[in-house]
Amino acid sequence: MSNELIQKEYKKKIKSLVYYNQRYYNGNISEISDFEYDELKNEILNLEKKYKFLKSKDSPSIKVGFKPSKTFKKVLHKVPMLSLANAFSEEDLFNFEKKILNFLSQTTNSNISYTAEPKIDGISASLTYLNGKLKSGLSRGDGKEGEDITSNLSTIKDIPKIISSKDFPKEIDIRGEVFISKSDFDILKEKFANPRNAASGSLRQKNPDDTKKIPLKFIAYTFGFEKGLKINNQYEYLNKLSEWGFKTNPLNRLITGIKNLIKNYNEVEKKRADLDFDIDGIVYKVNDFALQKRLGFVANAPRWAIAHKFSSNKAVSEIIDIDIQIGRTGALTPVAKIKPINIGGVLVSNATLHNEDEISRKDIRVGDTVIVERAGDVIPHILSVDIKKRPKNSKKFIFPKNCPSCGSKTIKEFNSITKKKDAVRRCSSEGYDCDKISIEKLKHFVSKEAFNIDGFGKKIVESFWKLNLIRFPQDIFKLDYDRIEKLDGWGKLSVENLKYSINDKKKISLEKFIYGLGIRHIGLENAKLLSKYFGSFLNFKDLPINNKYNDLANIDGIGETQVNSIKNFFSNRLNLKVLNELGKILSINNATAKIKNGSLNNKTFLVTGKLDGISRAEIKSLIEENSGTTVSSVSKKLNYLIIGDKPTKRKVLNAKDLNIKIIDQNQFLKMLDKTS
Ligand code: IVH
Repeated sequence: MSNELIQKEYKKKIKSLVYYNQRYYNGNISEISDFEYDELKNEILNLEKKYKFLKSKDSPSIKVGFKPSKTFKKVLHKVPMLSLANAFSEEDLFNFEKKILNFLSQTTNSNISYTAEPKIDGISASLTYLNGKLKSGLSRGDGKEGEDITSNLSTIKDIPKIISSKDFPKEIDIRGEVFISKSDFDILKEKFANPRNAASGSLRQKNPDDTKKIPLKFIAYTFGFEKGLKINNQYEYLNKLSEWGFKTNPLNRLITGIKNLIKNYNEVEKKRADLDFDIDGIVYKVNDFALQKRLGFVANAPRWAIAHKFSSNKAVSEIIDIDIQIGRTGALTPVAKIKPINIGGVLVSNATLHNEDEISRKDIRVGDTVIVERAGDVIPHILSVDIKKRPKNSKKFIFPKNCPSCGSKTIKEFNSITKKKDAVRRCSSEGYDCDKISIEKLKHFVSKEAFNIDGFGKKIVESFWKLNLIRFPQDIFKLDYDRIEKLDGWGKLSVENLKYSINDKKKISLEKFIYGLGIRHIGLENAKLLSKYFGSFLNFKDLPINNKYNDLANIDGIGETQVNSIKNFFSNRLNLKVLNELGKILSINNATAKIKNGSLNNKTFLVTGKLDGISRAEIKSLIEENSGTTVSSVSKKLNYLIIGDKPTKRKVLNAKDLNIKIIDQNQFLKMLDKTS
């Protein structure tokens, strides 16, 4: 076939895809089956792979998902809608409880009760009631901001419009799941791929009359903002919800002990197929609201809840090849290219092999027949090898001793904590000296949690890299837009949009900036700590000049590993260049001063010894909530040393020498007006 014909064929396929997308996302109509749709997408991707000259802005390799419809008003959630961490095994559950007990400093036998609520696979919504009347309803959106879909939600019979119960709070956001039952879905099968899509499509109809035609259901399970809720625990809340007229899951239970959670999980899993709604796991929540409050949140998920997912899907396939991918931190990750196989509705053609040790342990080889597992949103992995089916001439896989991208030596670092060599082999070059690491660093830089440049995804990074348009983060802000406009798949409008998104991010917070640099061991939480510590970009940039690396270890939460990694970062000339260049282009906001109205404002604390019924992590949260700071060593900067049982003698002596106030747990709690 001539290039011209190939191009024509390709354009035709893209045109069809755009058409089906529009029908689906704007009209909620599936004209082709999910399978046919995936086939079409794959055909396009395969063509692009084979003929490098094929490109289109509408290609599925560039467009991920779809732009949210602009027809619904965006509204901030008064209390964010969070997500849940996942557990896949008994071990994950035991760890979940262990972390809770550690945080609460209860090391002995616990008797924490949990609600176990089957996790319906639908679309979450938040309904605001004011004086018993349904005022508005929002979709989850990105968790912080949802779409106002009140009129659509109002068509759902299960959602009460007026609640007259005396004990119904004056104001409350009732949260739950909108879904479609399996039997109702059977009637709509032609139009949607699965019940979840049907619910989501229906909820986002522009005309509420269209929503009404689809039998949506609502099950309530939590709340957001509230004023006047007089309830102490989740189980009681679930019961109240049904008294108030909401539907709740009939399989909700109150359970104590992980062993019993597992028993319940197995029972529900057996019933799963017979239920008239899709569930993908069970959500466990610490029942007691007072404990929930103490436990709080990590990142965007509560410490007091977890989703225990149902078992994964498995399938047999064959390893065609083993690729080595190089990550942002230089880690070499082996990936098995397998014969494409459908696992639970998803076409899988790659499976991670984790690291060198995993390959040797399982003796995984090219040509092997393997069991591939896909669980939830995690990357599929190889579960086991069927040795009987191994071809006679197969050879052991030899892990590269040199980086496949830059040729530098690969190394296994010694972990000073575990006193073992790392399982991961890394490229020994420093960041931007290795092309593959650079690309990954750039992907990280533009990613959601860092600079979050709209429309600048991983595929764009790769394509701009190939075209030599970007090598370092600063290049993103100096793009040759005239050249991009002439590229296949780009036009005036898309370039304008890109320019706008990039310029929009020239103003950035110090914490996002630090996170965006992708320094090893500096994740979101650490970037936040560093940003608070440095206060301004200049202070951060001048760290090597002031050479105060050791002071960093005083930041509570920053340890030796992080300090070494920061030192490494600053000792690389290319990193310094990136910092300088970005400093010239960007306007990096100083870290916002913390709320200075707490009773511990301007005071620093350090804990030594074991406290009674309260963990280090919880004390730290309490100090920070009340505007205080924690430090990790005794110095002149310390105001209070809190001592518990068996304190470190040296710390107490040092504190005495420096005339630092030494207090016990009760004295500390009094400072908060929180006597235990
Ligand atoms: S609680 C902070 N309870 O799961 C607690 N969520 O991954 C957040 N879900 O977006 C939610 N059943 O769509 C909660 N009984 C249940 C749930 C449930 C289903 C969904 C919900 C949420 C997602 C979290």
